[in-house]
Amino acid sequence: MNIQPFQSLVKERCGLCFEEGKIAMLADGILTRMSQLGMAIDTDYLACLRRNETEFHTLVNLLTINETYFFREPEHLNLLADKIMPEMLAGKTPADPVRILCAGCATGEEPYSIMMKLFEKYGPGIRELVSITGVDIDSVALGMAERGVYSGLSFRGFPDHLRHKYFEKSENDHYRVRNFIREKIGFRKMNLLNDPFSDMPGRLDAIFYRNVSIYFDPPTQLHIFNRLAGLLRENGWLFVSATETLSHNHGVLPLVERDGIFCFQNKDKRNGDDEHKKAISSSAPAQRKKPSLAPLPPVPSKQRPDRRLSKVPSFEEALALAENKRYGEALGCLDTLLEQDRSSIKSYMLKAGVLINMKRLDDAERTCRQGIERQRWDLEGHLLLGLIAKLKGDSETAVQRFKEAVYIQSSCWLGHFYLAEVYGIRKESKQAIREYEIAIKLLSKDSPPDHGLTFFPLAFRPEQLKHLCLHNLNRLKKSTG
Ligand SMILES: C[S@@+](CC[C@H](N)C(=O)[O-])C[C@H]1O[C@@H](n2cnc3c(N)ncnc32)[C@H](O)[C@@H]1O
Repeated sequence: MNIQPFQSLVKERCGLCFEEGKIAMLADGILTRMSQLGMAIDTDYLACLRRNETEFHTLVNLLTINETYFFREPEHLNLLADKIMPEMLAGKTPADPVRILCAGCATGEEPYSIMMKLFEKYGPGIRELVSITGVDIDSVALGMAERGVYSGLSFRGFPDHLRHKYFEKSENDHYRVRNFIREKIGFRKMNLLNDPFSDMPGRLDAIFYRNVSIYFDPPTQLHIFNRLAGLLRENGWLFVSATETLSHNHGVLPLVERDGIFCFQNKDKRNGDDEHKKAISSSAPAQRKKPSLAPLPPVPSKQRPDRRLSKVPSFEEALALAENKRYGEALGCLDTLLEQDRSSIKSYMLKAGVLINMKRLDDAERTCRQGIERQRWDLEGHLLLGLIAKLKGDSETAVQRFKEAVYIQSSCWLGHFYLAEVYGIRKESKQAIREYEIAIKLLSKDSPPDHGLTFFPLAFRPEQLKHLCLHNLNRLKKSTG
C-alpha cells in the first residue's frame, strides 16, 4: 500500500500527523476500514475517502487518541477556580455568562471537571453564570461525553470523597455524572483545523486546549493556536498542558505566570513581556529532537485473512497490537506465548502493561508478580508495580516499588520521575525536588537511557518529560521558598 497520500489527506483535513513510528497505526486503521467495506485496492479506498465525508470521519474516529481523565493537571483547575474566576465573574449574568471552551475534549472528563471544580468553590448558582462547551473531531468520543458514564482510570485523579456527590452508580462498576452537572455542559463536533467558529457564542473567557497539539506538526500547532487565540476576549486565558507550553511560546500570546503556573493570556504583549522572559529563561527549551520511535511491525488483524494468527504469534505482534490499543487481541497473543514459554519475562510485563491500560489493576499486579517470581530484579516489573500502586492511590507502596526500581538501575529516569511525583502527592517536597533534579540530570544526557518499559502507556517523549520535570521543580522550589 502507498501510505503517503493517506498521510497527506489526514494531515490536510484534520492536522493529525502520522509519521515515523505512527505509520503502522494509520495503516491499520485504513486496512480495518477497507476490510469492513470489502475493498481490496487502497487507491479505491483513497478515492472513497476523498469524496465521502462520512467515511473520512469514520476513519478519523479510529485514529484519534482520546486519553483523558477527571481532574487532569489539577493546577489549572485550581488556578481557574481560585484566582481567575473571581476576575472573570465581575459583571456576569445568566444572559452573558463566563464562556469556556474545551478544545479537544475527548470523552468529556475535562469539561465536567471544570464545572465540578467551580461548583465546589462557588456552589449551585455558578451553573447559571458559566457556559462550558466541549468540542472534538471524534464523534464516538463525543457520544461518550454526552452519555457521561465512566469507569476505572477516568477516576485516577479524582478525589474519592467527591465521587458520590457528582456521580451516581450505573451498571458494571460504572458511574454516571449527575444531571445537575451533565445538563450544563454542551458538546459539539468540530475540527479545530478549519471548521468555522462562527457559531461560537461570543468571545471566550478561557480555552482549555490541553494534550491535543501533541498530534500536530509545528506549523499545524501554530495555525490552530492562532485560530484559538482569535476567539479570546481581551484578557482571556488559554491553557495548554505543561508539556506543551514551550512549543506554543512563539509570541502569538504572551506567556504569563500565575502562582507558579504558566498559561497564555490575551493581553497587551508589552505587559506580559517580563513574565514572558522569566518563563523562557526559567526553563530554557532544549533543541526539539524528532521523536526516535522505531517503525512498528505490521499489525495482525482478525479482519485480514492473509494475516490471520493461525500459528504461534510473535512477541512483536503482541506488542504492535497493544500499541494500537487492540488490547483484547494482544492479551490473546500473550496468553498463547506464555503457554509456550513460562519463563518469558517480557511477555509477563507486556501483559501487565496491557492490563493496566484495560484498567484491570489487580490482574496486572498478579501478572507482574508472576514475572518477578521468575526474575527477582526485573526493572520493568518494579516500575509497573509502582505504577499500579500509584494508580490505586497507595502512595506508600508506590514509593517502595519505585525506590527498588532505581536501586536496580540508578539511571532509570522514569523511576526517579515517578518517585518525584509520588513524593509530591505526599507533600514531601524535599524528596520530590531531589528526585526531579536527578531525573532532569539523566534526561539532559545526549542520549538518555531507555525508560525501561516495553509498553509505555504514557505519551511523553523524554524531552517533553524533561520540560515537565523542570516545570514541576520550579513550582516546588517556589512553594517551599
Ligand atoms: C488526548 S485527548 C485530550 C483530552 C483532554 N483535552 C485532556 O487534556 O485530557 C486529544 C483529543 O484531541 C482530539 N483532536 C485531535 N485532532 C483534532 C482536531 N483537528 N479537531 C478537534 N479535535 C481534535 C482527539 O480526537 C482527542 O479526543
